[in-house]
Amino acid sequence: MNTTVHHTPEVEETIYRLDGPLRWALGEVQGLLRTAQAAPGQRVLDVGAGTGYATIPAARAVGPDGSVHGVDGSAPLLKVLEGRAAKEGLTARVTTQVGALAPLDVPTSSVDLVLCTYVLHELAEDAALAVAEMHRVLKPGGRVAIADYRKTPDVARNREIEAWYARQPDGAGPDERHLRFSLEELEQMLRGAGFQQIDLRTWHDFHTHAIATR
Ligand SMILES: C[S@@+](CC[C@H](N)C(=O)[O-])C[C@H]1O[C@@H](n2cnc3c(N)ncnc32)[C@H](O)[C@@H]1O
Repeated sequence: MNTTVHHTPEVEETIYRLDGPLRWALGEVQGLLRTAQAAPGQRVLDVGAGTGYATIPAARAVGPDGSVHGVDGSAPLLKVLEGRAAKEGLTARVTTQVGALAPLDVPTSSVDLVLCTYVLHELAEDAALAVAEMHRVLKPGGRVAIADYRKTPDVARNREIEAWYARQPDGAGPDERHLRFSLEELEQMLRGAGFQQIDLRTWHDFHTHAIATR
């Protein structure tokens, strides 16, 4: 049976960018999972899972008794995630859902760990609601682990980085921004949603990692 899937050029570009071998080789998510104390048996939610950049390492970390649920608005990206889970023998612990991120169609206090990698900048003005939703779905004491770009205090450098992104084949349009939130703005969002023990770190120049507890 021929199982080749044909995507639009835009979706192909996005898959290429999100699923490239260099990105997987960085080991970023493994570090994030360690800091967030991901553990066997946990129920994990990946908000804006895309092609599974965070979902797949999380599925390995939670073991056969745990589960990871990936929500995303893009069905083609989730298909790539499902294919990767199948290839790695992780299908039994990975589920997906095409849907909105703010609000989330996920029960309250049902999740041990929420992951959200490189999504908040795309949500823009909906980001605060998405963070509030992450707080709602977490069990008390559960953690959120966020990775995203950060707006740095160097305005000229921010502009230079945005110009680089705009030149990429699936590059941002004039209104799209990657360096949308500063560390302070991200902290405010987390605090406003009710998170505690907020640990914000710079990761690789203009990237940031945030871990916080409900
Ligand atoms: C830059 S990608 C990151 C994907 C993945 N977390 C990763 O790190 O590779 C952003 C993801 O958020 C999803 N997304 C953005 N805005 C969304 C929205 N309003 N509703 C649902 N999904 C959305 C996109 O479909 C995409 O998969």
